[in-house]
Amino acid sequence: MSPAKLLYCYIPPDADRAQPPRTRKKRHMDAKVQPAKQIRGSVRTAGDKSVSHRYAMLAGLAAGTSEFDNFSTSADCSSTLSCMVAMGAHVRRNGNHVEVEGVGGKLAAPQEELDCGNSGSTMRMLSGVVAAQPFTSVMVGDASLSRRPMKRVIEPLTQMGARIDAEEGCAPLTIHGSRLKAITYQPPVASAQVKSCVLLAGLFAEGETTVIEPVKTRDHTELAIEAFGGEVVRSGDRISVRGGQVLKAIKAYVPGDLSSVVFFLCATALYPGSSLVVDSVLLNPTRSVVLDVLGGMGVKINFLKIEQQFGELVGTLQAEGSVFQGGVISGATSAALIDELPAIAAIAPYSVNGVEIRNAQELRVKECDRIHAVVRNLRAMGAEVEEFPDGMKIPGQQKLHGAAIESFDDHRIAMAFAIAALRAEGETTIHNAEAVKVSFPEFFQALEKVRQ
Ligand code: S3P
Repeated sequence: MSPAKLLYCYIPPDADRAQPPRTRKKRHMDAKVQPAKQIRGSVRTAGDKSVSHRYAMLAGLAAGTSEFDNFSTSADCSSTLSCMVAMGAHVRRNGNHVEVEGVGGKLAAPQEELDCGNSGSTMRMLSGVVAAQPFTSVMVGDASLSRRPMKRVIEPLTQMGARIDAEEGCAPLTIHGSRLKAITYQPPVASAQVKSCVLLAGLFAEGETTVIEPVKTRDHTELAIEAFGGEVVRSGDRISVRGGQVLKAIKAYVPGDLSSVVFFLCATALYPGSSLVVDSVLLNPTRSVVLDVLGGMGVKINFLKIEQQFGELVGTLQAEGSVFQGGVISGATSAALIDELPAIAAIAPYSVNGVEIRNAQELRVKECDRIHAVVRNLRAMGAEVEEFPDGMKIPGQQKLHGAAIESFDDHRIAMAFAIAALRAEGETTIHNAEAVKVSFPEFFQALEKVRQ
């Protein structure tokens, strides 16, 4: 990556409504990406972000000291750890090794705002925990997080008896904690963060709390509660937890982040004959749908070893590129691939038959409007794209050229277009490439290792 340099800074149109809670001095960086001829070698990523968030929260609540190896290096998970520290947990960290001394169920009132940074998972899931505490807390986030919809967690928590002040349903959230009552809740959107918020609140509520899922979403919260010694009852689309359960510390290895690995699988898809080995990656079936989809589009994926750790599947896989066919992604598959769609869309012009993505309107309320960001950046590279309210259609067999890419301060947009740049003609510049730190700070070094 080139030295820090403010070359271009995107100011979102409604930034004046959602200023960052405190002024952070940001160093803007550009990454230059040259075309590559082949992908070869191996990658191993830091621990999965979704799993690390849940382990950090539950370890902070549990009795005893939990130890994690390969904990996520993401800025998002650091935000979760800081919030737990602000409420009385002790954290010692040495690289990927993290120790969390929990509060044994009794959190302390935070002396300052709980700063969730860019992390929707931190704010939405932890709001369920703080809503049940005998104190008031204020959850804040950066400009992007302050624009994202929080009504989806305010609504069920209010039904449980919490009082939450939020302007226009957005952060900052002032949460007046109180004794909660159990509810049965059917979220109107497919969201693991909303489900987790309600289940975590349910751990403190009187009675049994149930979430009925419209579409099955990632189940790391359920598995993590069980890993920490809690009980979760699952029956069809219903997930229930009892209030007042005691959680106990664990020692765990966090499997590599599959959503980070997908950028490398997409790079592999671009070159027939390319070959990539991925060690110790999360293969939880609620997350690995993307492997089936990429397989169907022409990436050959072999599983070399699979085992289970605390309910989570982890394994080694080997991927080979052949002819990248493309295809249609819609319905429940779009929900299951929501984090991976930008990467697949960014390489879609190089496919044989093109890619159509529908029913993915949730992309518009992620770290940025990811449909707009993908369409804007693909067009900057010379691609033809059709935009829909819920997705996009990208014809295949297109030739792209290097261009100035705007990350929109969104980690997945920066990484998706670094991959698209590998097959473009000429150099691509990714502006505000430092956004990758949100989930995968080592991304550009890892890419350098496998590109040829
Ligand atoms: C996440 C759930 C998803 C996903 C996010 C992580 C989680 O969000 O996009 O990156 O860890 O539960 P939604 O719950 O909004 O779908």
